[in-house]
Amino acid sequence: MKNNTIEELCCLYTNLSEEDVEILKGVAANLPLIADLNKANIFVDCLTKEGNHAIVVAEASPTTTKSVYTKPIVGKFAYEAFEPSVLSSLRTGKPKFQNRALTQEGKTVTQSVVPIKGGNNQVIATLIMEKDVTEQIKNQRKMEMLSETTETLTEILIGITESQPIIPEMLDESLFLIDYEGKILYCNPSATSLVQESYEGSHWADKLLVELFPGVKEILEDPEELLIQEIIIINKVFQVKKIKLGHKENENVFFIILKNITELREKERDLVVKSVAIREIHHRVKNNLQTVASLLRLQMRNGLPEDSKGHFEESLNRITSIASVYEIILSNSSVDDVNLYQLIEKIGNSLVIESGSEQKIDISYSGADFEIKSNKAVTVALIVNELIQNCLKHAFKRRRRGEIKVLLHRKVNQIEVQVIDNGEGYIPTSKPSLGLDIVKMLIEHDLSGKLKIENGFDGTVVVVTFPIAEERIQV
Ligand SMILES: Nc1ncnc2c1ncn2[C@@H]1O[C@H](COP(=O)(O)OP(=O)(O)OP(=O)(O)O)[C@@H](O)[C@H]1O
Ligand SMILES: [Mg+2]
Repeated sequence: MKNNTIEELCCLYTNLSEEDVEILKGVAANLPLIADLNKANIFVDCLTKEGNHAIVVAEASPTTTKSVYTKPIVGKFAYEAFEPSVLSSLRTGKPKFQNRALTQEGKTVTQSVVPIKGGNNQVIATLIMEKDVTEQIKNQRKMEMLSETTETLTEILIGITESQPIIPEMLDESLFLIDYEGKILYCNPSATSLVQESYEGSHWADKLLVELFPGVKEILEDPEELLIQEIIIINKVFQVKKIKLGHKENENVFFIILKNITELREKERDLVVKSVAIREIHHRVKNNLQTVASLLRLQMRNGLPEDSKGHFEESLNRITSIASVYEIILSNSSVDDVNLYQLIEKIGNSLVIESGSEQKIDISYSGADFEIKSNKAVTVALIVNELIQNCLKHAFKRRRRGEIKVLLHRKVNQIEVQVIDNGEGYIPTSKPSLGLDIVKMLIEHDLSGKLKIENGFDGTVVVVTFPIAEERIQV
């Protein structure tokens, strides 16, 4: 700071006396210290001769923070419009603190101004401190915007439950907000149309909810805070939900939400009717198969040529195996699923008993317990029937006892059925044979599976594998 600059400027632009200028020089000498201490820019401004502007006669930038100004401003005018506090303090002699001002470089600053008095207690200049508040203002704006946003959000949220309910307007469910006495405080459009549909009187606005829907009486009187029940309103089934809001006696309000579930209940009833019909059909199929089997048995008893007897027996077994599928379906709750283990056990046991063989044949079963769809079960029943019949017919021809094992495996997407005997073993022949042809055809066409016949350690091992969709297996 050059003191001669103060002198020159004061002489040129102000009416200050030499004595006043000396005082200012003394003040100016301390400006750098004040600037560093306050981390602010410090100036001395004097009133111009005309008295309408001020002129900067001394300045100091802080070294402890970034200066507000990039260029020196000594000798520049301070205009009232931009720095009203400076002019006001020069004229009135009163200090001004933390007022906003716009600098010559267009920055927003806070300005604190104190008057500097001369020998005869006249205001000769002002000491000004300026701090950059641009960042602070930005943050403040952000805060303002944020709080505005919050306010808007709050309004929207309040609007939902108060004057402009957005969400309830769009709900299909009929929504009533009632007080502890049952007076309706609010109802959405769906609720309004429900009342108009079901209530015969014209004025319902003052009515209690229970007067409009007597069916809800029990639900309202129930002390439970959360409740779901079904009621009938003009032949329609409604699910009613009660939700209590608030925890003060006589101040609680309740949401009563009514949802028309008539269609759902009708569909459920249709399904039950259908499943009853399907069971009835299964029952008839089973009875018819058993009638056919009885007719065959009757015919067999009424004298048959010896060589046809075997064919009749085989057909009889095939028919009873299919009938077994329906028997199992009917003994279960499901209309379409058959427990495969149960089915195979039933067929095997009945074949061994029916064979009436004098040999001692033991049959055993092992493996997983799961269900498959009835159409596949019929195919598996026929296959297992043929394979067990083959064991009974061919494996133990020259033996007094024999053992048959049926193994059931469930792999990831595949089912494997093994029929193993400890008989004489399998010798492939070129002789045409119906049984294994039926088995192959059923496996390939109906199950998209594979058949393998091989000789085991003793006897024959027949392996049937077929794919099955994971979701169709029900344990
Ligand atoms: N478990 C088995 N042990 C020994 N030989 C078997 C076994 N299974 C099948 N075979 C042999 O395979 C042949 C073909 O069997 P397939 O079931 O096709 O005919 P079938 O039993 O003779 O007559 P059908 O089953 O048509 O009444 C049988 O004749 C038999 O020689
Ligand atoms: Mg056979």
